[in-house]
Amino acid sequence: MTSINNIALNFDKSKYTYSQQAKVQSLMSKYLVSLLKHYDGRKKQLRICDLGTGSNANLLIDYLNSTEHNLNITLVDLVNILPEVKEKIFRFSQVKTLESEQQDVFTWSDQERQKFDLIISNAMIQWIENPFELLQQIINQLNSQGIFAFSTFSLENFKELKQVTNNSLVYFAKSSWLEMLSKSGYQVIACQEFQEQLLFASLNDLMQHLKETGVNNLPNKSIWTKSKLEIFKQKFDELKVDDRYPLTYHSLLFICQKKLEV
Ligand SMILES: C[S@@+](CC[C@H](N)C(=O)[O-])C[C@H]1O[C@@H](n2cnc3c(N)ncnc32)[C@H](O)[C@@H]1O
Repeated sequence: MTSINNIALNFDKSKYTYSQQAKVQSLMSKYLVSLLKHYDGRKKQLRICDLGTGSNANLLIDYLNSTEHNLNITLVDLVNILPEVKEKIFRFSQVKTLESEQQDVFTWSDQERQKFDLIISNAMIQWIENPFELLQQIINQLNSQGIFAFSTFSLENFKELKQVTNNSLVYFAKSSWLEMLSKSGYQVIACQEFQEQLLFASLNDLMQHLKETGVNNLPNKSIWTKSKLEIFKQKFDELKVDDRYPLTYHSLLFICQKKLEV
């Protein structure tokens, strides 16, 4: 598994390029917010937390653009939010309070605190070694019938990289997520799955895309000798689509409610 320090370092390095490059993550964020619209309740004021907010807080800003609820917001990430992004968030009139915690979500969610009405998270949970345990910790941070709305990636994600390098994060099928969520005490009230294939003119562009979205830290990273690079290129050449290099994203979105009896 990729170390926490590497994850933080790579996302910090990509903080000025991420929003421009992370097109699929941006789609996931927008879809998640539009799904969530039907389920975030009638309360006027919500306590909300964004897990894995990122330096640019894209999901939170998408949510702020769509909601009329007044919000007490907590942000949690290994990396700091950019000061200009923080200022942008404060310009939304719904924002009543904003706290940001630079922490590992796993440690954060294991601590006692006032509970939340809504926890959101975009494209973060696949970095967690034991997501089942995290789901059980997150549910303890929710009020009764609170909502956890999150997105992640599934089995076919970056399948080309896996085919060529044998390296990949561990991804789960939709059915495994549904089972983990149910066993943790959530009722899944909406779910969406989609795939997007991006095409790049050169392998260099593809690798640059990964770097600029903070993902150049696949596990079991090996030393790139000249001959290994050549084999990598040859294998990737065989996967070309319309003379371009493909990179598949496979996304899953869930809106979950804490079951009453929990
Ligand atoms: C792909 S980015 C998504 C950022 C943001 N949610 C968005 O929608 O644009 C993943 C984020 O998860 C954070 N992250 C990964 N593992 C984490 C952990 N264990 N604890 C806290 N944050 C983590 C990274 O630092 C990064 O900012």
